[in-house]
Amino acid sequence: MKFFLDTANADEIRQAADLGVLDGVTTNPTLAAREKKPFRELALEICEIVKNGVVNTEVVSTDTDGMLREAREMASWHPNIVVKVPMTREGIRALRVLHGEGIRVNVTLVFSPAQALIVAKGGAYFVSPFLGRLDDVAQDGMGLLREILTIYRAYKFETQVLAASLRHPIHVIEAAKLGADIATMPFKVFEQLFRHPLTDRGLEGFLKDWEKAREALGEIAEPAAARKAGR
Ligand code: E4P
Repeated sequence: MKFFLDTANADEIRQAADLGVLDGVTTNPTLAAREKKPFRELALEICEIVKNGVVNTEVVSTDTDGMLREAREMASWHPNIVVKVPMTREGIRALRVLHGEGIRVNVTLVFSPAQALIVAKGGAYFVSPFLGRLDDVAQDGMGLLREILTIYRAYKFETQVLAASLRHPIHVIEAAKLGADIATMPFKVFEQLFRHPLTDRGLEGFLKDWEKAREALGEIAEPAAARKAGR
């Protein structure tokens, strides 16, 4: 499973990329608007940070011609950019044209298996079902992901399934168990994946035991207090 960060914040992306397990980034107009920077500049900064990973940038036009104009422009900024278009008739028309031109497209705001079927037939590179937003309205987000994966496997569609709108680590784990190609998550969720109280407690115990044993053997070359203080 690939990990994408669902943010346009360069500091968050830098911190995640630094760990070496980040495969890409998804942005949307809401996330990009928070950064208060010219969009091209922001997108290129993100491409520079994630290096070989893909960076998803979204069009804001609602007509096909406008989407095509924006998508071609964004795709010309950097080879790692994948253009997001919304799951509308206009978006699917744009998808067909862009696919023909070799521009990779992520169809976003997908909330039903029928929509996902159209997206795959249109030749999208990614389909983005929004799981958390379905859960928010008391519908089964994970159920949608399961249905999409079943359909895509039955027809061996090449469109990659990008589980989006993930709100907590269980969303990521369940999506991984179902075999989603990618999980995109906010930085907070990415960080939560690392944590377990037993890891912290276990490490503390190991270090204390090691210290005690060395003290008993009279081997302490570097007292614990000095090491903790970074001296
Ligand atoms: C994905 O590409 C979207 O940007 C994102 O996952 C939306 O998540 P939200 O429902 O938490 O806004």
